[in-house]
Amino acid sequence: MPMNRLLLLNGPNINLLGKREKEVYGKFTLHDIEIEVADLAQKHGHELDCFQSNHEGELIDRLHQANGKYTGIVFNPAAYTHTSIALRDAIMAIDTPVIEVHISNVHKREAFRYQSMLASACYGQVVGFGLKSYRLAALAFLESK
Ligand code: DQA
Repeated sequence: MPMNRLLLLNGPNINLLGKREKEVYGKFTLHDIEIEVADLAQKHGHELDCFQSNHEGELIDRLHQANGKYTGIVFNPAAYTHTSIALRDAIMAIDTPVIEVHISNVHKREAFRYQSMLASACYGQVVGFGLKSYRLAALAFLESK
């Protein structure tokens, strides 16, 4: 089984957190998320690698590269959640478990956000707890050992 490392993966527009739709996503930034999850991981003896991209293919490449290298992947696919069969196939293609994360409660928002192309390919899903969604997903991996 994989080494003591987690991958934190974020999709499109997550780089704009803190400026973007603050009433939906809050004031915290991507950097805040990365610091907090890295700290949590460290407390559980894990290193954290972080990657954010606005490009679907780059996220797919990162998933491929991650295969077999991590305890798990905490992934906020952002809008690609609702559209990307290619990301779903990438998750299906690797052995490393992925937890899908959303900051907002997508089920209380527009109907086009209700569907996830990825969720049924994932180990689990955490939705609607703001920055804490990432912490809870990371803990699901960190406490499962
Ligand atoms: C999001 C929810 C998505 O519907 C949206 O496209 C995002 C962010 C979230 O974290 O709440 O960009 O993934």
